[in-house]
Amino acid sequence: MRVSGRIAVPGDKSISHRALILGALASGTSRVRGVLQSADVRSTAEALRAMGAGVPALASTFAIDGRGRRGLCAPASALDCGNSGTSARLLAGVVAGHPISARFEGDASLSVRPMRRVATPLARMGAAIELERGDGLPMTVRGGDLCALEWQSEIASAQVKSAILLAALTSGVTAGVSEPERSRDHTERMLASMGAPVTVADLRVQLDPVARLEPLELDVPGDPSSAAFFVALAALATTGELCIERVCLNPTRTGFFRAVGAMGARVDVIDEAVGGGEPIGSLVARPAHLRAIHLAPDGVASLIDEIPLLACLAARAEGTTVITGAGELRVKESDRIAVVIENLRELGVDAEELPDGMRITGSDRPLRGRVRTHGDHRIAMAFGILGADPSCRIDLDDRECVGVSYPRFWEDLGRVVSR
Ligand code: S3P
Repeated sequence: MRVSGRIAVPGDKSISHRALILGALASGTSRVRGVLQSADVRSTAEALRAMGAGVPALASTFAIDGRGRRGLCAPASALDCGNSGTSARLLAGVVAGHPISARFEGDASLSVRPMRRVATPLARMGAAIELERGDGLPMTVRGGDLCALEWQSEIASAQVKSAILLAALTSGVTAGVSEPERSRDHTERMLASMGAPVTVADLRVQLDPVARLEPLELDVPGDPSSAAFFVALAALATTGELCIERVCLNPTRTGFFRAVGAMGARVDVIDEAVGGGEPIGSLVARPAHLRAIHLAPDGVASLIDEIPLLACLAARAEGTTVITGAGELRVKESDRIAVVIENLRELGVDAEELPDGMRITGSDRPLRGRVRTHGDHRIAMAFGILGADPSCRIDLDDRECVGVSYPRFWEDLGRVVSR
């Protein structure tokens, strides 16, 4: 398989959600370029509109008419978050800090994902939260005047951290959040760039009250989680190279590039710069002879969304790869430990589930079979990369689910691969 060309992956999903939310809470007009135009980000945009925010239809360049730090109103009907955990959890924090109430709903996958992890700290701040099914959605949040919170999170979750910070921001109180490992820090970075008093020390972040947020001027960098698919593709190729342009290289997001480097992949960073408060750069990725690794639990947060892809690469690496400390994978868009292993085995790979990870032995034998994506975008794309190799015959039960984070994935893939 030969790869060649340049890829401009879509804007970062996490940063896009936050740009819409913080733009809606700013005082004045924010200008955002390169926002991700995908189903998940649309869920956030629609929910914000339902609460009176001036968010137009997603486009490559657009302006958000901010309503002020506490300027949203109660939605007339339930907020449908679709497949998007980030929408549900971050907006739960926003609603908690407003004197309004909102009911959150989602699709079948999102409805069984844990919400208690945000409900508990928000309730501790004084919001009234109803979880009809004990956990998951639907969830009703009644917000108001909250009290300050010092929260020690048991998991490294940017969604939990951001929900608390957004509740503190909108309600005008101080919040401190500590985590066992650093999760992605886009919320803190964006808040600081808008003039909010954010302090970060080791694994703790604190936000103090601020009267108003300055509007954003943001160029959303490419999503490293999307770039990862093309780095993996290049590593699996026999010849050629790929350049993936203007990728967000925030160290809380680049664990996959470090891990594939340890597997022997050849990835160079060029054109390094800073854009929108985030380090960015272009990646040049080339074919490699991959070797198995043992992925240590510390640092897993920095590649949690890329582990299905890493598992697919492990199926082509020499030796046995062991991944542990990744129990969070069980509560993503699907149970990504069970789903990855079920599919690798279906393709004839020697793979085994661990309670909090997986063990995979690589080979170069042809892989054949049908992948059940469970509607999970990252499962579809990870196995799509494995299936790009002409020696494999892999089909997927659902190719459309990539629309959650990377609607033109199949077109981009087709453009850079030749046999
Ligand atoms: C995200 C945080 C991560 C990640 C998700 C996006 C975010 O989830 O898996 O895809 O934008 O904050 P957790 O916060 O649950 O770890």
